[in-house]
Amino acid sequence: MDSTNTAILLLLLALVYLLLTLSSWGKARLPPGPRPLPLLGNLLQLRSQDMLTSLTKLSKEYGSVYTVHLGPRPVVVLSGYQTVKEALVDQGDEFSGRGSYPVFFNFTKGNGIAFSNGDRWRALRRFSVQILRNFGMGKRSIEERILEEGGFLLAELRKTEGEPFDPTFVLSRSVSNIICSVIFGSRFDYDDERLHTIISLINDNFQIMSSPWGEWYNIFPSLLHCVPGPHRRLFPNFGCMKALIARSVRDHQASLDPDSPRDFIDCFLTKMAQEQQDPLSHFHMDTLLMTTHNLLFGGTETVGTTLRHAFLALMKFPKVQARVQEEIDRVVGRARLPSLEDRAAMPYTDAVIHEVQRFADIIPMNLPHRVTRDTDFHGFLIPKGTDVITLLNTVHHDPSQFPAPQEFNPGHFLDDNEAFKKSPAFMPFSAGRRLCLGESLARMELFLFLTAILQSFSLQPLVAPEDIDLTPLSSGLGHVPRPFQLCARAR
Ligand code: HEM
Repeated sequence: MDSTNTAILLLLLALVYLLLTLSSWGKARLPPGPRPLPLLGNLLQLRSQDMLTSLTKLSKEYGSVYTVHLGPRPVVVLSGYQTVKEALVDQGDEFSGRGSYPVFFNFTKGNGIAFSNGDRWRALRRFSVQILRNFGMGKRSIEERILEEGGFLLAELRKTEGEPFDPTFVLSRSVSNIICSVIFGSRFDYDDERLHTIISLINDNFQIMSSPWGEWYNIFPSLLHCVPGPHRRLFPNFGCMKALIARSVRDHQASLDPDSPRDFIDCFLTKMAQEQQDPLSHFHMDTLLMTTHNLLFGGTETVGTTLRHAFLALMKFPKVQARVQEEIDRVVGRARLPSLEDRAAMPYTDAVIHEVQRFADIIPMNLPHRVTRDTDFHGFLIPKGTDVITLLNTVHHDPSQFPAPQEFNPGHFLDDNEAFKKSPAFMPFSAGRRLCLGESLARMELFLFLTAILQSFSLQPLVAPEDIDLTPLSSGLGHVPRPFQLCARAR
């Protein structure tokens, strides 16, 4: 080939490349947003202290659908009830992917339910939902476990004898024991070292992920890997949890009877054995360890954190606390523990729990989503694989859905006749295909634990109610409440 031919060939190749690039750029039409800097993206517009506030502020300027660059990566941000619902519910399939979340992904490598995509996610999710249902999630059998655990929790509260205490560990132990009993087959005693390890590792990681360190790690993982700071504890903590779960899996393997599975791990091991010959199976040791970890993490920190927010709100608004107690006394009395059957007759209590979840808004930016194909949305064309942040916080504070969104007001969930009123904008568990897998379990726990506590105790703050600060200590992955102590006075 002479030099003229080579030049023509190179020119043709360059033209084809240019055409391909232009056509894909021409196709994709990301929503507008602040102009990014090379590599840094829009970091100058995002106050490192609080990503949520910065993203919400940008939505006032650019509307309910805009693009922000987290480092070099474009991410579409959605806010307000209508827009978030149109994405997660009306176009649920397209928005069902899981977006990049390096803090978790570098540990799970896409092997658990929460941070996997495609066929693996579908297989693990379908299987986990099925097994959790078989072990009673959303049914009477799990209600009995929660009531039994509630009894242990009340005994611990009695031991405080009305003296001040920090409720974090007391609540987490009881909450964690519910999901532990489904996963490991039995609850732990409250002084069992393994339960303490699980709770402190999860609590520490949730706090770090909810701090600016966790947010920065998600934007610049390689850089942050080399920088000292509390985020360096994340992966050793994850490693300890994995080792603890792996030890339990080994014990299960040694005593497994496939005909009578005792718990989630037994069911998973049995499925692994059934699909051993299938090279495409998603059921292997890594997916078992990571799925178990996802369930433990999801099932421990979220409910415990919500209960702490509830304690603070009930102490700040003593009239709300008194009215819940009056309803418990009237509907249940003192002779037996409240049960789920009572809920329908307790609209005020139900409304208070919903309002706590709306107001506390514990996962304010949701977990990141990703579009699974090129997606038409609000006149834009979001290319397949683009990450999407849905600001659940803006749904919970949408004035078109909640008349006084900044106020704690159980009336948001009551109609004119004081009957319980559902709201489509109630999304603490998110919505659509990725809806929290533990929603029904969490709702049972919140109702049963909270009513059992308020039936027997009044929650008293150590400071004047007006000095109780309901704003979160930090806001990243989670809204973590400020640390506090209280007295549980027997009624
Ligand atoms: C008050 C309690 C809880 C809240 C507020 C909560 C909230 C959430 C949210 C916002 C998501 C992300 C949904 C999305 O990506 O759109 C999620 C996912 C998830 N949650 Fe929960 N959660 C709670 C309790 C639980 C419990 C008790 C479990 C365990 C049984 C659990 C297990 C999970 C799992 C496995 C996922 C990942 C689902 C998937 O990616 O398909 N959560 N949760």
